Amino acid sequence: AFVVLENCIRCKYTDCVDVCPVDCFHEGPNMLVIDPEECIDCALCEPECPAEAIVPEDEVPEDQKEFIQLNAELAKVWPVLSEKKDPLPDADEWNGVAGKRQYLER
Ligand code: SF4
Ligand code: F3S
Repeated sequence: AFVVLENCIRCKYTDCVDVCPVDCFHEGPNMLVIDPEECIDCALCEPECPAEAIVPEDEVPEDQKEFIQLNAELAKVWPVLSEKKDPLPDADEWNGVAGKRQYLER
């Protein structure tokens, strides 16, 4: 499955959801995650993310491995988002900022 990484936090551009053929993105307060049980590995979402926050599971960086489990876990509790909406208001300021893991809201 594909995995949403740390750089989605506080950005949530949502360009990814528009291209997903199986609606497997789930929305939390300041991040989206992918349901690994629904993702069909089509790879369409990866180039759409302005924050470059989506990668295939085998390309998740060593220091972000916990996001594999986080996507699986949070996809079970957060609702599906199937249409693009406005990014978070400060998305451009937060895009690329290091250490955003601490700001993940559930
Ligand atoms: Fe959806 Fe395809 Fe991205 Fe998986 S790889 S989340 S199926 S767009
Ligand atoms: Fe997040 Fe990128 Fe989608 S910032 S909401 S993974 S377009």
